[in-house]
Amino acid sequence: MYKTDLQGSANDRPARPAVVQTEPADLVEAFEARVADDQFIEPKDWMPEAYRRTLVRQISQHAHSEIVGMLPEGNWITRAPSLRRKAILLAKVQDEGGHGLYLYAAAETLGTSREEMIEALHAGKAKYSTIFNYPTVTWADIGAIGWLVDGAAIMNQVPLQRTSYGPYARAMVRVCKEESFHQRQGYELTMAMAQGTAEQKRMAQDALNRWWWPSLMMFGPPDDNSPNTAQSMRWRIKRDTNDELRQKFVDVTVPQAEAIGLTVPDPDLKWNADKGGYDFGAIDWEEFYAVVRGEGPVAQERMAARISAWEDGAWVREAATVHAQKRIARSEAA
Ligand SMILES: [Fe+2]
Ligand SMILES: [Fe+2]
Repeated sequence: MYKTDLQGSANDRPARPAVVQTEPADLVEAFEARVADDQFIEPKDWMPEAYRRTLVRQISQHAHSEIVGMLPEGNWITRAPSLRRKAILLAKVQDEGGHGLYLYAAAETLGTSREEMIEALHAGKAKYSTIFNYPTVTWADIGAIGWLVDGAAIMNQVPLQRTSYGPYARAMVRVCKEESFHQRQGYELTMAMAQGTAEQKRMAQDALNRWWWPSLMMFGPPDDNSPNTAQSMRWRIKRDTNDELRQKFVDVTVPQAEAIGLTVPDPDLKWNADKGGYDFGAIDWEEFYAVVRGEGPVAQERMAARISAWEDGAWVREAATVHAQKRIARSEAA
């Protein structure tokens, strides 16, 4: 049943009042009181179906984003310019695989299997972060991704360490530590290029130009067009709105660009002393929704790579299952 729910887009989802009304009022009330009291909800606790569905969708989308996110950077492992850069990039991409693993495991505690989630992804029914449907065209993109994409991920994920569902919150604690390393290595790489030859600096600027706006889109639609934010905030799945997090990201990142002599590609960017933050230009939401619909520059390529990885790995899964069964049989015989 959860698989079907993954088919919903970010805009047509759950909190169906009819379902909520049929749930025992005393249980709903006790659940809401626990959430309001900042207690974690654990897998065996009673929870409203809409809460469960929202979490399965959010956690599985997050898991898919981690593993699809391995692809644009994985592309560059063989072409890293030095052993040091190769070792860093290998570790980073491997971390993202680990993040996917923690998150699939957290989603499984809600009663959906990993196979169902993967199948939904491969069938094009599940979403993942649109940012990974952009290509990595030069080595400078590896810097921009770490600095901006992992930087935006941290903004989103730090508050999730206190999200109301226990397994999700605990997975985020470790994920955030690793994301912080990802952000720093990306910024350090970008800094090295910005201080390098004129051509290297031009590449760093070009990467910033291409990744800036998609990074701002990572926070999701604006608050006045994000119908589920209110319910997710009430259930403490979300702690900050999309626009609040986007503003924080801009405020932290603009001075980082200035410090290394790069220019954020936004002519409307201006410090606003009254609000204590930057004003910035309008985001092209048409582009965002086109990428959500799977029209991103390399969306097809990403899915083809995931599906062939899954199919090529079938023999490993089969062998591991047979091996596990033999071990159980041996220990039972002993
Ligand atoms: Fe990650
Ligand atoms: Fe990361």
